[in-house]
Amino acid sequence: MQPADLNMTTTVTGHQLFLFVTFGDGGAGGELAEAMDRLGQGLENVHDVDGPPSDDAFERGRFQLLRAESGLTSENQIIHPAVSESNGLIRLECASLEPIKEYEIGLRPLIERTGGSVETLAGVMRPRSYTSHAMSEFAYAHAMPPGPGEKYPLAAVTPMNKIDAWWQMDFLHRESFFLPRYDENEEMVVKGHALASAMGVPGINRRLVHSPDGYGLEGNYDFVGYFEFAEADAPVFREVMAGLRDTVQNPEWKYVLEGPEWWGRRVRDAANLLIRD
Ligand code: HEM
Repeated sequence: MQPADLNMTTTVTGHQLFLFVTFGDGGAGGELAEAMDRLGQGLENVHDVDGPPSDDAFERGRFQLLRAESGLTSENQIIHPAVSESNGLIRLECASLEPIKEYEIGLRPLIERTGGSVETLAGVMRPRSYTSHAMSEFAYAHAMPPGPGEKYPLAAVTPMNKIDAWWQMDFLHRESFFLPRYDENEEMVVKGHALASAMGVPGINRRLVHSPDGYGLEGNYDFVGYFEFAEADAPVFREVMAGLRDTVQNPEWKYVLEGPEWWGRRVRDAANLLIRD
């Protein structure tokens, strides 16, 4: 389904690629690390950046390398081993697709030459569709801005789909899942998405991309969430996810099928990404 048919925004403000890398057995070592670091040279390495990107960096393209924290990753309803069993991730973002696509095209043969593989999740950044000024104040105005890898070393990726019944719903019905629900005495009976996850606002940096070609399509997730946080806030992230998955408090999740919840640790360069356990 296309965003215009769903009363959702049709605007695209940027592109992201999530390149999940599975290492091969052959010839990793220093040569591969050097080649990977060379690939990133024209782009900004997000690892040491404090705050949102400058316009210039976003135009050029940006990347973050992450080493898998496989013990923390979990499978969900949609089994996807190329993601859940990957050894690392390169998350790329850019105002246009070309510079980061070029990175992907350069990376793939480097990894495949050593017997490894690259699994790509692609998404576009969009303005919010369901958010009023008041919700913006509540859910975004005080949200934690992005920070350097030393400060927020952990990241989680949450690819997901919404089932057909969601996409068939009227937009006002869909929008209602983001707010609390009240009974005839105005007592709150259900928290809804924003309140169920509100404890994550101050300590979890969140970014969301949408499927580039429309929703409810085969072979592409409808949404990929990306979250960065400090070690101390890992339990908060887990609680936020538990709150969202509790369909009593957040009925929206009855319509969600999740891919793997992938966890990783942000690293500065390819040598640190390629370290094996
Ligand atoms: C940390 C606190 C969070 C708050 C306050 C929050 C709030 C919101 C709000 C207000 C929207 C509506 C955006 C719009 O207008 O389009 C939204 C959308 C969304 N959120 Fe969250 N969220 C949080 C965390 C999360 C987490 C942890 C996930 C994990 C998977 C998540 C997944 C999504 C998805 C997939 C959408 C798009 C849904 C759709 O358009 O159907 N959110 N969130």
